[in-house]
Parts: sequence; structure tokens; C-alpha cells
Amino acid sequence: MAKQSAIFRCAECGATHAKWSGRCDACGAWNSIHEEAPISTTPGSGMKGAKGKVIPLTALDTKETPPARVKSGMEELDRVLGGGLVAASAVLVGGDPGIGKSTLLLQATASFARKGVKALYISGEEAASQVRMRAQRLGLADAPVGLGAETSLRDILTTLETERPDLVIIDSIQTMWSDNVDSAPGSVSQLRAAAHELVSFAKKRGTAVILVGHVTKEGQIAGPRVIEHMVDTVLYFEGERGHQFRILRAVKNRFGPASEIGVFEMTGAGLAEVANPSALFLSERGQPAPGSAVFAGIEGTRPVLTEIQALVAPSTLASPRRTVVGLDSGRISTILAVLESRCGIPFAGLDVFLNVAGGMKVVEPAADLAAAAALLSAREDVALPADMVIFGEISLSGALRPVGQAENRLKEAAKLGFSQAIAPSGTKAEGSSGMSLRKLGDLVTFTGEMFGAG
Ligand code: TYD
Ligand code: MG
Repeated sequence: MAKQSAIFRCAECGATHAKWSGRCDACGAWNSIHEEAPISTTPGSGMKGAKGKVIPLTALDTKETPPARVKSGMEELDRVLGGGLVAASAVLVGGDPGIGKSTLLLQATASFARKGVKALYISGEEAASQVRMRAQRLGLADAPVGLGAETSLRDILTTLETERPDLVIIDSIQTMWSDNVDSAPGSVSQLRAAAHELVSFAKKRGTAVILVGHVTKEGQIAGPRVIEHMVDTVLYFEGERGHQFRILRAVKNRFGPASEIGVFEMTGAGLAEVANPSALFLSERGQPAPGSAVFAGIEGTRPVLTEIQALVAPSTLASPRRTVVGLDSGRISTILAVLESRCGIPFAGLDVFLNVAGGMKVVEPAADLAAAAALLSAREDVALPADMVIFGEISLSGALRPVGQAENRLKEAAKLGFSQAIAPSGTKAEGSSGMSLRKLGDLVTFTGEMFGAG
């Protein structure tokens, strides 16, 4: 057997090195490299000494009671959590600084506390008086929440052992600091250690733990991504600056569907739930104008209508601009290429700006056809009918592919007063509930019918 040599690992970034040095080449941190015991790779040889015990195995059909859940009463939050907060679960809520994470979680904590959940809110970023002031302003001061301002993980864990709450919020995980770990607060090793301790506590004591994590510019302090694998549920709180609404998006959930969203609006009195997001996203729509198309989308389990806006203008640049906000820019490049090579509609020499109104992000490929419609409408300077919604995926051949949940999309559109829809042929839906549905096979037919081009 080849001799296992020791490896040296950087505690800041995790890079491994063949020998010790004072500074990590990978991340530039000083004094962060430590020797790690080699791990034997020969089967069986790694476990010397006493024999382990046999673990009990069960069949897959063993009846399991569903996990105990408690609802906050904030419906948008409960839905994203998969129907309420699961006891002993660990949740990470990430988002840009200033987006409203502390506001959301303070409101959620108060709602849970009013339902009889024993809840603690530990702030490592703001003084207790600041949090109290915010709570008073939001009308939450009467909720029975235990508030602490602390960053020492040891003191927090001791407090949790004594208090045994049902729920604890840690705002934020990046400010927590463990004296067992020899690096600065906010470093990867501190972040991992703090998350590990808190998640273990959750599992051991049956406490639900919600960790707040700032998404940061690369290289400053460690982002919450490095602890995503440790927690049960990962939620991201997103929104555009200058827009009032905020979207809470589940990107991982061991206890419910991922990709579910909750919509909130930031008001002077905290975050208000938005029960009908389509109406909100379409509220700024004025008279029918060239470059605007309404996309009937699905976010998680819910249909959401959004307006896709395009502007096409002659470019003075050698390589014209392609500015895309709220949609996948790679997909838009593909759509432009398909329009050019399959439909003979060039966008060379034209600047293209594409945007989802209101700061919403759309990731579904089903938005392809609506994006193409907005682009064509802008280029041809022809407005689409105001009562029309569009959905469907575009393949590289220019064929339109049907997408899921067509019936739900149509129902939502009908509810909001739309009366016609365009969808790919093969769409499993009929023009129900007063909607007239046109099914088209490919992009060439679509451009021909809508704009007389192609
Ligand atoms: P905050 O929850 O502190 O953000 P985070 O914890 O993600 O860093 O939110 C800060 C922003 O929210 C701040 O710019 C002010 C705004 N805000 C309101 O508009 N209304 C309110 O009632 C509150 C509490 C905050
Ligand atoms: Mg905060």
C-alpha cells in the first residue's frame, strides 16, 4: 500500500496544498493552512479498533407520520416553506443586504409567537434597541418574542439550551463567531462552524432554526452558498432596488416543492403580502404599445402573469447591445439566433433591450414565445392585442414546444380579463372559460400571423 502523505488545507477557502506555507496561494489568507490527517483509501483499513454495531434497516413502505408543521399565518411565507415551518428543521434565508430579510423575519417571528410558538430572535447586526424600535414601528411590540443581541455562538447555544425555544432566528449567520475556530467572523470556516453547531442543535433539541445569510460580492465575506447543503430549506429573498415588491423563492426544500414563490410588497409599515401577484405585475400596464407582451407563467404551484417589454433601436456600436433584465440572457441570444436563421428576421445592427416589468425574474423556458413576441412587436413597431397572453418554448429548429400546466395559465389569464391566448400546438388545453386559444406549430407561422413577416 502506498504511504498516505499528509495534506495541508486552508481553513478559509478549503484549498489543499502539498506542503505548509504561511499564506494560502488560492485565497491569499495568512496563517490559515493546517495539516490534516490522511484518510486511508484501502477498504476496511480506515476503521481500526472496535467493531461497529449493525444499523437497523427498514422497508420503504414503513408508515411515516408527516412532519409536524406550524403555520405563521403569513400565507406567502407558509406556502414557500411547503405548508408551514417544520419542527427541528433548519432554514437558510439569503438575500442582498437591505432587501428586507430582517423585516420579513421579525414579522414572521412575531406571527409565530402570537400562535403560541416559543420564539427567540437573535440579532448579531443590530442592537436590541434598534430591533425593538423597528418592532414598535411595525406594530409587533406586543408579540411574545424573546429578543437577544449577541454574536458569540457559545453564549447563544447556552441560552438555547436553557430556554429550549421552538424557533430561533439567527440574524445573520455571518456575524456569528465561534471561539473554537481560529479565524475572523464572516470567514468560510466560521460560517461553517456556526451553521453546523446551530443545525445540530436544531436536530438534537427539536428547535426550528432560521439562519439569515447575506449574499455578498465575491471575495468580501463568505456567502451563504457554502452552508446550503447543511440546511433543509434554502429560501432567497429577491427584488430590484427601486421596486416595491420582493419575492421569497424556495431553491431547495426537503419538506416541500422547490421553486415556489411568495410575493411581498415593502410598505412604510413593513412587508405586506401580495395575494394576487399577476394583478400587481400587470398594474403598471398602460395602453397597448409596441414591444409589450404578456406572458402566462407558472411560479411553483401558482400561475403568475408578467409583462415582457422589449425595445429595439438602431445601434451605433460595432457589436450591438443586448441588455436583458429578469430573463436568462443566454436564452434570449438563442431566440434572436432562431429569429434570424429560421424566420429570416435579422437583429444585426440593432440594440436590443428586454425587461420583465416590475423587477420580476422569469426562469421558465415557457417564456420564450412571449419574449420573441415582444422582440418582434418592438422591431416591427406593431402592438400586440391588449387582451392576449402568450406562452410556449422555442426549440432551435424554430418549432414551438408545448409546456406544462396550460390550463392553469389560461384560467389565470381569464380571471384577469384576458380573452385570447397563443400557445404551441400540442398544448393540452382547450379554450375554456371564455378564452380563445390559438395553437401554432412553429415560430415562422407565428411571425407570419402576428406581424405578416417571415
Ligand atoms: P432590512 O430588513 O433591514 O434588510 P436586510 O435585513 O435584508 O438587510 O430592510 C431594510 C430596508 O427596508 C430599508 O432600506 C428600509 C426598508 N423598510 C421599509 O421600507 N419599511 C419598513 O417598514 C421597514 C422596517 C424597512
Ligand atoms: Mg438585516
